[in-house]
Amino acid sequence: MGEKPRVVITRRLPGVSLAKIGEKAEAVLPDRDGPMPRKELLRKVRGASGILSTLADRIDAPLMETAGKTLRVVSNFAVGVNNIDVAEATRRRIRVCNTPDVLTEAAADLGFGLLLAAARRFSEAERFLRAGKFTGWDPWGFLGVPVFGRTLGIVGMGKIGSAIAARARGFEMRVLYHSRTPIPKAREDALRARHVGLDDLLSGSDFIVLCVPLTSETRGMIDRGRLRRMKKEAVLVNIGRGEVVDEGALAEALAVGRIFAGGLDVYEKEPKIHPGLLRAPTAVLLPHLGSATTETRERMGGLATENLLAVLSGDDPPCPVN
Ligand code: GLV
Repeated sequence: MGEKPRVVITRRLPGVSLAKIGEKAEAVLPDRDGPMPRKELLRKVRGASGILSTLADRIDAPLMETAGKTLRVVSNFAVGVNNIDVAEATRRRIRVCNTPDVLTEAAADLGFGLLLAAARRFSEAERFLRAGKFTGWDPWGFLGVPVFGRTLGIVGMGKIGSAIAARARGFEMRVLYHSRTPIPKAREDALRARHVGLDDLLSGSDFIVLCVPLTSETRGMIDRGRLRRMKKEAVLVNIGRGEVVDEGALAEALAVGRIFAGGLDVYEKEPKIHPGLLRAPTAVLLPHLGSATTETRERMGGLATENLLAVLSGDDPPCPVN
């Protein structure tokens, strides 16, 4: 009987079953809590057959080269796979897998929550209260913009974008969307959503929610020029990836009141936050919480475990990316 294959699990993760993994493989765990430092990952990955990674691990060509020919699977604990060089993995016949579907509703809840929080200035007002400045009801205090009956523009009408559109029906919003591939007509009708060009979406929406994955086409998509197309009262929400937005340009737009507010869950250089965003009172800033419910994270871990073990057993994984 040959030795068990080795798999590197880059972080302690909810729902990832070490017992199940242990039946098929030898699990190599991080030395300490928190994200695995690159150096440690490079050391541990030599001769490994699998990696169970998070979105904070850069799985690039040098790392795959260091792992060597044994590496067969990278199972990402995330739906986004922009941290992985998928083309390189494909070239090396390494399977890449992700955790879609199980996080759709949690991410849509968070996106819609950010929209409401930014429209009605929740964060700014709470900071005010916590600072002991609430001296009584103020007819002029923290006036926001209405959500009910307004126009919502969704950029990226995949599963999460569609789930946000479904929520918008309860608020009787008109939904415009922009997507590489328009959704089927019946689905458009059910969601009361209309496909438009990106520039029309930006100029015609009161709320713009970015749900696109990070790719070479979406990187820097919301730049200074595109911010200028938005209405002065527009609210921009980003739950995709930070690099889709030029953060410097957004900070500037918020500083001069070029748009009304921003709601962000993701950042260009996570965990670093652009100082201009930290200074902007109208920015609602969350620490990448899209999938952060216990149930969702457990399910992501279960799926990441299944993906990993399926490939190691020579089977098709439930959620292959390549
Ligand atoms: C979170 O951002 C994910 O991609 O799962």
